[in-house]
Amino acid sequence: MGGTPASQGPAIVVAGLRKDYGKLHAVDGVSFQVRRGEIYALLGPNGAGKTSTVEILEGHRRRSGGEVRVLGFDPGAGDRHLRERVGIVLQSGGIDSELSVKEMVSLYAGFYARPRDVAETIEQVGLTSKRRARARTLSGGQMRRLDLALALIGDPEVLFLDEPTTGFDPNARRDAWDMIARLRRSGTTVLLTSHYLDEVQQLADRVGVMSHGHLVEESTPDALGGRDVAGTVISFRLPERLRASELPGGPWDQPTDRAGEYTMHTDEPTRVLAALTHWAVEHDLELPQLTVVRPSLEDVYLRITGQAGVGAHNGG
Ligand SMILES: Nc1ncnc2c1ncn2[C@@H]1O[C@H](COP(=O)(O)OP(=O)(O)O)[C@@H](O)[C@H]1O
Ligand SMILES: [Mg+2]
Repeated sequence: MGGTPASQGPAIVVAGLRKDYGKLHAVDGVSFQVRRGEIYALLGPNGAGKTSTVEILEGHRRRSGGEVRVLGFDPGAGDRHLRERVGIVLQSGGIDSELSVKEMVSLYAGFYARPRDVAETIEQVGLTSKRRARARTLSGGQMRRLDLALALIGDPEVLFLDEPTTGFDPNARRDAWDMIARLRRSGTTVLLTSHYLDEVQQLADRVGVMSHGHLVEESTPDALGGRDVAGTVISFRLPERLRASELPGGPWDQPTDRAGEYTMHTDEPTRVLAALTHWAVEHDLELPQLTVVRPSLEDVYLRITGQAGVGAHNGG
């Protein structure tokens, strides 16, 4: 299939996507692109419109407006050539089957022209010891792994993972993360949704933050909310004998003082720290409890989605 223009373009293109449920604008003009081999995360709280977006890309829901392309195809057209190249893990997984794990995965392998090896795929999702168990007897986490095995068996170029680790215990989560990281190395393009910040931070090359049907920010996990530079908090105490008025001038606003703890907010932590510590060393001072803290991804995320929520975009 190489050589066509579509094989060189982005794996996923979403442009002005809209999805209405009656009066509710669940997805309200969302645009983003995912490069080949990239792991892109849609991050957002419940109801943000993540599943609607992903299921339109999977061809499982009809869009109300806008354009989408997956590997150059319109997923709404139900083209079999696209189906063969895409793997899907739905948010509400769970397989109520009398078939064993191995039988299920083999069954799905039969749908594809060039499936992956069944035993190897079962091993990769950590279900080898359960390969003879009936699917319906699996635990929630094991069921999720089976979902993933079924998505992977066709050796997809693009994998959609809608909240792949929701309900997992911490160990199962780690395993799933390892597995997704291995997919990255194999060049698979992954679009995942999550409301776990640590997950997104671990896995994603880029993050789109969704809130109320809008993509309110797009960046790398480290730079989310300008977090790589902005809003660093430097705090310290002064030795007993010093007052705040004796602090030097520097690249900072007057520090705020709460119960003897001084706090500076800065976008230039390196410069501020250099000036502050230079001054302290010159005066042979130790600054007790000197700390430098960046806002957590959680803080940033709440700030972004909180701000975005103000406008009440939903009509319903
Ligand atoms: N089939 C549906 N019918 C009506 N409303 C829906 C349907 N699916 C989702 N919604 C609503 O659309 C909004 C976005 O839902 P969803 O895409 O599932 O978001 P997320 O995956 O981010 O939680 C929510 O308000 C949800 O209640
Ligand atoms: Mg969802």
